[in-house]
Amino acid sequence: MHNSGRGSLTRRLFIGGIAALPALWPPARAADAAPRTPPVPASADQVLNVMEFERLAQEALPPAHFGYIATGADDDRTVARNHDAFGHYEIRARRFADLTHLNSTRTVLGSSWTSPLYLSAVSAMRAFHPDAEVAVARAAAARGLQMMLSTGSSTPVEAVEQACAAPVWQQLYPTDDWAVTSGLVRRAASAGCTAVVLTVDSHGRRNNETLLRAMQRDGRSCTDCHPGNSHDMWRRGPLFAGLDVSRVTALAPDDLTVQFLDRLRAIVKSRLIVKGIVTGEDAALAIEHGADAIVVSNHGGRNEETLRATIDSLPEVAAAARGRVPVFLDGGIRRGTDVFKALALGATAVGIGRPQAWGLAAFGQAGVEAVADILNRELGAIMRQAGTPTLSAITRDRVVRSQAPA
Ligand code: FNR
Repeated sequence: MHNSGRGSLTRRLFIGGIAALPALWPPARAADAAPRTPPVPASADQVLNVMEFERLAQEALPPAHFGYIATGADDDRTVARNHDAFGHYEIRARRFADLTHLNSTRTVLGSSWTSPLYLSAVSAMRAFHPDAEVAVARAAAARGLQMMLSTGSSTPVEAVEQACAAPVWQQLYPTDDWAVTSGLVRRAASAGCTAVVLTVDSHGRRNNETLLRAMQRDGRSCTDCHPGNSHDMWRRGPLFAGLDVSRVTALAPDDLTVQFLDRLRAIVKSRLIVKGIVTGEDAALAIEHGADAIVVSNHGGRNEETLRATIDSLPEVAAAARGRVPVFLDGGIRRGTDVFKALALGATAVGIGRPQAWGLAAFGQAGVEAVADILNRELGAIMRQAGTPTLSAITRDRVVRSQAPA
């Protein structure tokens, strides 16, 4: 029988299996085996996934500024756990569904959102890109995303509102001086912010070792942007301009009790959202004392090393909320499947912190847009695969706790 080269190759593969393949080609030269630096993507839309933006941000930024984004508290284990914990949940994909019209829109606090994703508060974004919060606001406008502006913004809220062309939510570090608290609330109201987001997880004196180590490695003088080498945001933040901050010593009062919440509720005429809730008990208290929504958040693991991931806190918070108010979640969202799992476990929408800072550092506005595009694309893909054409179809029964060995 005639034996063509092709036939003999097929037989050799059949006999030797895939292990026979290397013998068919010349041996690899040492240079081919050496690790190569991967090419830097030339544009944001070439970046394949959200995590790749982290490396690009690290390459773009001075060590201290990247350290500020990266840092957690103590050993950064809560930062890692926030994302890793999504891997403890598995998706139950259903096969018989009509996917002709995939729809990821949702009405949130009376506004129509294109996807269940928003940009959470990240302070001092000029440290990551000269266009800072304006670039983020333009990205939010381009992609129809809700933006939450940090009290430590490096751009005044009015300029951000203008760039966003839609009302932003004003995140609030109330400080320990009520006159400053009420001044910040007044300014947010005059700028047209549709929500004040009170952060309740920031009591100060946090141990950000990754940041401190990065600052030790960074030889630059910081006094240009940090007058007197002070990192206290109330001394440099544009949102504090015109307010007497001489009595401020911290970002929050020591007695941040529910009575404080009542007092704040009385002066906030827009929506009041409470950010930093990780237990059912506090969720119930926040709602009873006037919160219009709550955010399950541990500040991206930056404030305390509890090791409990936000996705693991979500079920008890959602249960305590009993559908009375929207429950948002942030912390460790890096994939569309993370968004899907959070929605299945009771979140109305999810926020991203570090990913937007990485995107901004790497490519400015285009980077933030690309991060949102990737997450939305991945969410669309898993919605199709799981047989959930709408967000409301992503119900509790769509995820299970993994039985796989850890
Ligand atoms: C934050 N975060 C934050 N939160 C807040 O309420 N006010 C703020 O000013 C800031 N500033 C800030 C700066 C930086 C550099 C980061 C990374 C984070 C927390 C943020 O809103 C959000 O809760 C977490 O970042 C979510 O976790 P991931 O997405 O970073 O994992």
